[in-house]
Amino acid sequence: MARIVTIERHILEQQKNHPNATGVFTNLLYDMALAAKIIARETTRAGLVGILGASEDHNVYGEQQQKLDIFADRTIFRINDHTGRLCAMASEEHEEIIEIPMNFDTGRYVLLYDPLDGSSNIDVNVSVGTIFAIHRKISTGERGTLEDVLQAGRRLVAAGYVIYGSSTMMVYSAGQGVHGFTLDPSVGEFLLSHENIRAPQNALYYSANAGYEKYWTPGVRRYAKWLQGIEGEGRKPLGQRYIGSLVSDFHRNLLRGGVFFYPGDMQDPSKPYGKMRLMFEAQAIGFLAEQAGGYASDGVGSVLDLEPYSLHQRVPLFVGNRDLVEKAEEYIRLYDQEWLEAYRPFRTLKMERA
Ligand code: AHG
Ligand code: MN
Ligand code: MN
Repeated sequence: MARIVTIERHILEQQKNHPNATGVFTNLLYDMALAAKIIARETTRAGLVGILGASEDHNVYGEQQQKLDIFADRTIFRINDHTGRLCAMASEEHEEIIEIPMNFDTGRYVLLYDPLDGSSNIDVNVSVGTIFAIHRKISTGERGTLEDVLQAGRRLVAAGYVIYGSSTMMVYSAGQGVHGFTLDPSVGEFLLSHENIRAPQNALYYSANAGYEKYWTPGVRRYAKWLQGIEGEGRKPLGQRYIGSLVSDFHRNLLRGGVFFYPGDMQDPSKPYGKMRLMFEAQAIGFLAEQAGGYASDGVGSVLDLEPYSLHQRVPLFVGNRDLVEKAEEYIRLYDQEWLEAYRPFRTLKMERA
């Protein structure tokens, strides 16, 4: 029989390789696992207790109901606000950074999260997820600032996601590979089920919302044709699978091999950057991709090297097997001059503002 390793034990073992580890970071990851269990409990009951209703609705028990993404947001905040491990948080659901309440101590880390990713899938019982990323505090004051939050993905200490699927899984990396844990609901523990996940050599799938092909740039269209084996050297076609929840699409492609893309487009030339959020989606997913031997690009270069300029900035995203992502960069270089000219200024906005 295989070893039984809980997520807590695994994080502790990994931290042994860090001589200066104080345990703060270990506990922070464990807090995320706890948040995941509480959110999973609610997602599996979503249809039952009327949690799908508007925020002000009351459920059959007379309790105030919240939409699931607000519930997830509150849960992650309330687990982490008082631990003294964080100096600030940022969530896709909040316009500004979230400060640690004055009555609690602050710590050395910053937590960024997308509490519920793919939330349009909840009402139809399709997998959703949570994405999180952890940076180190860099400012010198006692409490965290926007500077601590707006760091390049290259500096991430850890990142991960939870997928609320046919089973609940938590997948994380603290810079030593990517590891996956499956929740055993009967004992309430995440158990190691996917150790050291590596991007498979042979990719099976590509994932994009082909319904928007009309808006894609010429290079991206040709790239999609290349993935289908029509354009270029006539490769064996990849299957097309798209769920519409980044966590689920990325997770499948991580295990089976493939590429996910949500490109920038020229529908509105003043907004050539697509839909994905750099701070709450692309950084964490890009970090995990690289840790598994893959790659994440904005079509020009690594998303991890982008210096962020705002909390809710959007970014084109191509992520998955390295060779497939690099091919997208190649097509964009060759055929998307107009788009590149529109998009390039956004890559360097931070430097210009400085
Ligand atoms: P969120 O639910 O956190 O707002 O994220 C939605 C995102 C992402 O999960 C998914 O990949 C993408 O939106 C799907 O967009 P389309 O419906 O435009 O394909
Ligand atoms: Mn999302
Ligand atoms: Mn979300």
